[in-house]
Amino acid sequence: MPAHTESPTGTLTLQTISMPADTNPFGDIFGGWVMAQMDIAGAIHANEVAKGRVTTVAVGSMSFIRPVPVGAIISCYTSTRRIGNTSIRVWVEVWIKDFLTQKISLVTEGEYIYVALDEQGHKRPVRLGNG
Ligand SMILES: CC(C)(COP(=O)(O)OP(=O)(O)OC[C@H]1O[C@@H](n2cnc3c(N)ncnc32)[C@H](O)[C@@H]1OP(=O)(O)O)[C@@H](O)C(=O)NCCC(=O)NCCS
Repeated sequence: MPAHTESPTGTLTLQTISMPADTNPFGDIFGGWVMAQMDIAGAIHANEVAKGRVTTVAVGSMSFIRPVPVGAIISCYTSTRRIGNTSIRVWVEVWIKDFLTQKISLVTEGEYIYVALDEQGHKRPVRLGNG
């Protein structure tokens, strides 16, 4: 796992804003919602690597470092960790930006693993491209 850095690792793949509907009973953003954004970002990244359909096969190490407030700008950064035969390991970092100070901070990071699929939905070698 990369050491926590002062700046994001990887490519900005997805941005959104945390909304009141996504909170837990204590008013912070629900971890499952954050994981869903990370999975979407990781899938976009893996789709570009595989040049075709992918599916999530596993989630590796996950760290929830800081709570996410409502109304934060959420940025998911992705980078390829390893390309296997049919799988792609994607490192996903979630950073939030404070509206007032513009300061960014790392809130969550984790590894998402995808498998490349052909048009019939069967696993296929990543490097073959679509189908
Ligand atoms: C993804 C899927 C097609 C893989 O089929 P499979 O026959 O189980 O595949 P394998 O066991 O050969 O694994 C395929 C690759 O994934 C990797 N993999 C599988 N399970 C893994 C795990 N738990 N952790 C890390 N890697 C894993 C394997 O190492 C292999 O990588 P490689 O080809 O690069 O060496 C099948 O498991 C599936 O359809 N799962 C459901 C996916 C899904 O619905 N995702 C959305 C969840 S809501």
